[in-house]
Amino acid sequence: MNMHASDKEKILAYDRPVPRYTSYPTAPHFQSVSQKNALNWLTSIPEKEDISLYIHIPFCEQMCWYCGCHTKVTKRYEPIERYLTYVLAEITLKANMVGKRLSVSHIHFGGGSPGILHPQDFEELIEHLSHYFDISADAEIAIELDPRGVDEQKIKTYAKNGVNRVSLGVQDFNDTVLSAVNRKQPFDINERVVSMLRDNDINHISFDLMYGLPYQTTSTIEETMARAISLNPDRISFFGYAHVPWVKKHMRLMPEDHLPNKAERYDLFHAGAKTLKRAGYTSIGIDHFVKPGDNMAESYKTQTLRRNFQGYTTDTASTMIGFGASAISHFKQGYQQNSPDMPVYRTALEHTELPIKKQYILSADDEIRRDIIGKIMCYGHVDLKTYEEDFSCELERLHQYQYDGFIHIEDDVLHILKEHAMTARLIAASFDAYLPEQFQNPRHAQAV
Ligand SMILES: C[S@@+](CC[C@H](N)C(=O)[O-])C[C@H]1O[C@@H](n2cnc3c(N)ncnc32)[C@H](O)[C@@H]1O
Ligand code: SF4
Repeated sequence: MNMHASDKEKILAYDRPVPRYTSYPTAPHFQSVSQKNALNWLTSIPEKEDISLYIHIPFCEQMCWYCGCHTKVTKRYEPIERYLTYVLAEITLKANMVGKRLSVSHIHFGGGSPGILHPQDFEELIEHLSHYFDISADAEIAIELDPRGVDEQKIKTYAKNGVNRVSLGVQDFNDTVLSAVNRKQPFDINERVVSMLRDNDINHISFDLMYGLPYQTTSTIEETMARAISLNPDRISFFGYAHVPWVKKHMRLMPEDHLPNKAERYDLFHAGAKTLKRAGYTSIGIDHFVKPGDNMAESYKTQTLRRNFQGYTTDTASTMIGFGASAISHFKQGYQQNSPDMPVYRTALEHTELPIKKQYILSADDEIRRDIIGKIMCYGHVDLKTYEEDFSCELERLHQYQYDGFIHIEDDVLHILKEHAMTARLIAASFDAYLPEQFQNPRHAQAV
């Protein structure tokens, strides 16, 4: 690498498509399994440990052209109502397999748009969960909400049923950017939902914002951040848009020739991050910004922060049971993913079978690498001496990053310099045993 190149040029030269490591190994490595051969890990969950629950609601009222989530548009409520009966059946089936009343410390409703559920249906879902699980009085109950589909009655129902954290899909505040991605969402909608949440004592609010969308410029991003800051959320997730039109065909509907290039994406992220830091937000990991008083800042300090399929989390439970089409569960032994295919998901439950499509059994080596990758993604710091294994090959690959001043390695302690936290995915990739060499090794970056 040219030693006179700027940090930006060096990072861009290294940039290559590596995973976001919301799990290790990543979901594409999960193996297909028939429902009959799926392992039943539910029976061996230790009684004394708190667990987490994830409920996936894969429906939205309208498709956003950038959306990479597992969801479907429906204008009618009937398919949602029908789907809910299957989710309730899955909860009953899995709880019966667990065979004991487990204590729950975290519940996450994700999607799609879980806010699409009618209030009485959301209440029924919570009641059904409480029937089978002991939801701790101080459990975190979080829901992803599309502000466009929320009203006062829904928010009152969330508050009444213990929801205490909401992440709002804001994405951007610029009308040109929003219309290019088929998402009309004037500022007042967000403002109104934030104040309704606070009026109902739901005070833990995060915003999802994105960079890399069409027509974004550093000045539109600075304006968007300033508007976000004016609403005072505790957390901001600032996701880099992943453009994968060969997987999600609707992504082709956005004006692709107005998508920012790699260098522009770099500038967009840094412009947003700078505005947030100036306003007092602390950066966490690759894409989170939190107020100093938020519990994620605390879990970063106490090194109890984790990464899961929802991103960064304060949830430390080693078991998460997922419900709904495509939902992923994790257990001490490995991962299991429900079928994303609705008829397959339904048929399994009609036969009182687990609706599992894929699973992954963790090896001892996977567990060590998962731990190292988790530390890199969460803290940008890992002491390799705490492991008995030899990582000289990985350290050798990382020398180039050290030479370029992104990381510091001394006495087998690897540390990413705070201003280069964005490189965590690339550094973590060097420890990923399933990635081909050209993605693991910075010297091969140009080959990709
Ligand atoms: C599952 S969505 C739920 C949010 C809710 N449905 C809404 O849109 O208001 C969670 C977040 O994922 C992010 N997201 C969706 N597609 C993405 C993509 N292709 N690349 C990066 N982030 C994406 C968006 O910021 C979105 O708010
Ligand atoms: S971003 Fe949210 S509202 Fe838009 S399609 Fe995806 S899940 Fe639905």
